[in-house]
Amino acid sequence: MSSLPQLLSARIEAVAGVDPELRAATKPQFGHFQSNVALRLAKAEGRPPREVAQRLVEQADLADLCEPPEVAGPGFINLRLRTDVLAAAATEVLSDPRHGVVPEGGSTVVIDYSGPNVAKQMHVGHLRSTIIGDCLARVLRSLGHTVVAQNHIGDWGRQFGMLVEQILLEGLDVADLDLPGAEELYRRANDHLKADGSFADAARRRVVLLQSGDEETLTIWRQLIDVSLAGFRESYARLGVLLTDEDLAGESTYNDALPSVVEDLEASGAAVVDDDALVVFVEGFNAPMIVRKRDGGFGYSATDLAAIRHRVRDLHADRILYVVGTEQTFHFNQVFAVARKAGFLPEDVRAEHVGYGMVLGADGKRLRTRDGGTMKLTTLLDAAEERAARPIALAAVKYADLSNSLVKDYVFDLDRMVQTTGDTGPYLQYAHARLCQVLARAVAEGYPVGESVTLLAEPAEQTLALLLTRFGEVVTEVGETLQPHRLCTYLYELSGALSTFYEQCPVLKSEADVRTSRLALCTATRDVLATGLDLLGIEAPERM
Ligand code: ARG
Repeated sequence: MSSLPQLLSARIEAVAGVDPELRAATKPQFGHFQSNVALRLAKAEGRPPREVAQRLVEQADLADLCEPPEVAGPGFINLRLRTDVLAAAATEVLSDPRHGVVPEGGSTVVIDYSGPNVAKQMHVGHLRSTIIGDCLARVLRSLGHTVVAQNHIGDWGRQFGMLVEQILLEGLDVADLDLPGAEELYRRANDHLKADGSFADAARRRVVLLQSGDEETLTIWRQLIDVSLAGFRESYARLGVLLTDEDLAGESTYNDALPSVVEDLEASGAAVVDDDALVVFVEGFNAPMIVRKRDGGFGYSATDLAAIRHRVRDLHADRILYVVGTEQTFHFNQVFAVARKAGFLPEDVRAEHVGYGMVLGADGKRLRTRDGGTMKLTTLLDAAEERAARPIALAAVKYADLSNSLVKDYVFDLDRMVQTTGDTGPYLQYAHARLCQVLARAVAEGYPVGESVTLLAEPAEQTLALLLTRFGEVVTEVGETLQPHRLCTYLYELSGALSTFYEQCPVLKSEADVRTSRLALCTATRDVLATGLDLLGIEAPERM
């Protein structure tokens, strides 16, 4: 299914030989779209642009879509869709249960997102990953793909040596801790490690015990994970994201696979021994990847190689997305390059790092707590909920995270984010709620709520209808480009077109036929807004 502008473009391209690059008309008197294709062709052909334009509009087969096209100014082609065509397209959006989203189907997409670390509370970086990953999962599922979420939590590594030692030293029962308590323990252990050489030695020995499967050590390690998971689950529930325990695939799950990763790396000739460490050199990187350290230990990179092999070989991924901050760009590019070299990542499997920028405070610096610590997710959500009811506060936070280009840092300005005017989540919720109210009143008055859009005489309703027909194409674009802000921009534009429509086109007060058609247009807009917000992971309440 192609959208109306796509159809129009194709018809003009058939006679022009090049993409007409249709633009939305700047004024209603110019119709709906404009093209400067004749001006571009005229140069090459050495003919006057208006003459070329005239020839194109005569040759192009457009009568079933447009009013007769006009040639304007120096040779622009102005196109006005036929209102019956536009009305039929809007009706299709209304009657289609997916409201124009076209399933592409078939692919398995693994999305690695959230990834908090054990014995530490989630911070804003994890918040961004969780929100963006949730949105991409929703979008790709709605496009018919099989999405496999992988929550790559940091549940293994040297830090567990000091944590376990500190617990034993203090005689703590980990089961009594909550996640903030575990994080305080982390801080005490870290301070201790820095101050006391013999504690550092004990921590190192403890790491070896953990790696060799010592029961007592493993038990405490598992308890730390349980405490942390309870905290993470609470955050996920609070955020309303789709992550579950089934999506957990932490670093430790790859432990047993590491020796065979090394075997594969050696067999493929990708890895070499350098200064007693096992490393892989890949072109274009100023440092090799260290797979196994001199002391025999494996790090973050080795685990990610095991993970990527698993995702391709066992999860059958066609596409793998890593929603992680841009400070890890080097790491992921290197993982992808090494994985290709080692044969873990075949050419036809796409691996993409969906990097995102930092969240900044009002001072333009990385958002921190008053005492300079990293900002906790809970602190931030508490602050949002001081300003608005929960669904609205969440919409504010999520929309702010998704509505900018992901790689850009953005300023966390809660007071602006919770406003119901401007480019905010609550503004979109409000547009939706207002439509629900109009439609409820229509039902209460006993007016028929039309099942089809039949009349579109006013430019404001034409603009609205035209935008509605673009929804599916926008969702497809987000699935391809992994840029949720395109959907945000679209929904914001749609809400803007809706408020112009309210100003210029009475709904309940217009006469019967017009009212019925406008109510159908309202219903379609409500459905597209609700579906679009759902894809962003934002609730759409019926009243606000
Ligand atoms: N735990 C990591 C962090 O907090 C994020 C994990 C990202 N995923 C991965 N496969 N490396 O930075």
